[in-house]
Amino acid sequence: MEKKRIGVLTGGGDCAGLNPAIKWVVKTALDDRLQRMRRIQCEVFGIRDGWKGLIQPEGDEGSPTPRINTLTEEMVRTWDRYGGTNLGTSRTNPYDPKNNRSKIVLQNIERYHLDYVVAIGGEDTLGVAHKLFREGVKVVGIPKTIDRDLSGTDYTLGFETAVNVITEEIDRLRTTAGSHRRIFVVETMGRHAGWLALEGGESSGAYIILIPEYDFEIERVNELLMEGNRKGARYEIIVVAEGAKSVGYSEIVKEEGIDSFGHKALGGIGEFLAKWISQVTKIETRSITLSHLQRGGAPCAYDRRMGRYFGIAAIDLIAKEDFGKMVSYRNGKITAVPLEEAIAKLNVVDIHTQYDTERYNGRRTILGA
Ligand code: F6P
Repeated sequence: MEKKRIGVLTGGGDCAGLNPAIKWVVKTALDDRLQRMRRIQCEVFGIRDGWKGLIQPEGDEGSPTPRINTLTEEMVRTWDRYGGTNLGTSRTNPYDPKNNRSKIVLQNIERYHLDYVVAIGGEDTLGVAHKLFREGVKVVGIPKTIDRDLSGTDYTLGFETAVNVITEEIDRLRTTAGSHRRIFVVETMGRHAGWLALEGGESSGAYIILIPEYDFEIERVNELLMEGNRKGARYEIIVVAEGAKSVGYSEIVKEEGIDSFGHKALGGIGEFLAKWISQVTKIETRSITLSHLQRGGAPCAYDRRMGRYFGIAAIDLIAKEDFGKMVSYRNGKITAVPLEEAIAKLNVVDIHTQYDTERYNGRRTILGA
């Protein structure tokens, strides 16, 4: 039997669903029956800290132990129950224009005799995977991001767990908001995509949902709130995506500068909006930023299952020697798309079919009637 070595890594922001995917990459690659059938004998190596693990595999001052280690079935047996990533992650960009270390990555892939690389990540991590593929690396991708903004797939790991967090936290806020007759502005993550705010807001029955895809008018927000107030609402919940902005303004950032992939650190729109609303409506308004709570905690059942299917499908792609692809979920089926397609453009909310631009909320017709 041919012997093959598979490296698996997680890159970018962590989220629930990564550990289930790693578990199923390992279990499927090491499955005796499949190995006999496929006539390949696999060894799987966990690469720690995303692409950093292939830049400094022997570790560094911050992390002195080796970053490439064998993974066994026994080691990953319980991983599908846990949030985060047991391999660690980083936002390291080997192709950072200011410090291009992609050659080091290529050398280390050779040095550690990695025949295949499974990269689990969002647009940044899979963007790197795509560039490596073009340089000859046999790579496959698994989509993850709570933002659910990758193209070519209807699902990215972490999204459902994050929506569950938003829903649970808003359920909690409702009782305190109602007791005090307050408005609560809840800021979600999502960068340039409004999916988390929209579907989190829909799941929790938010009164107003503001998304980056549609610039809102503050006067309209206040008008809607006063309308609710006149109808006797004791409190209201507004969900605002961190990347949302009002007409004529730009996104609010919590820190100046950009990371090695060119992203700004967004945050602060919730607080800004709450102040604005309370000044105009005179209704006491508070804000809360859910921030990394959305990425934390155990994966929900859906993320465990999708992590499993994506992990299995990634090894299927390797067995079929179908590289440069990302496993994907489309129209109810697990399939695969070229990495190029997945990262070509962001998948954002279509305001014409998925958003009500008058009520600043989810759509109110679904079948187009
Ligand atoms: O891309 C995932 C995400 O959670 C975004 O929604 C958010 O803007 C960003 O990562 C936050 O990144 P960090 O964890 O580096 O603060």
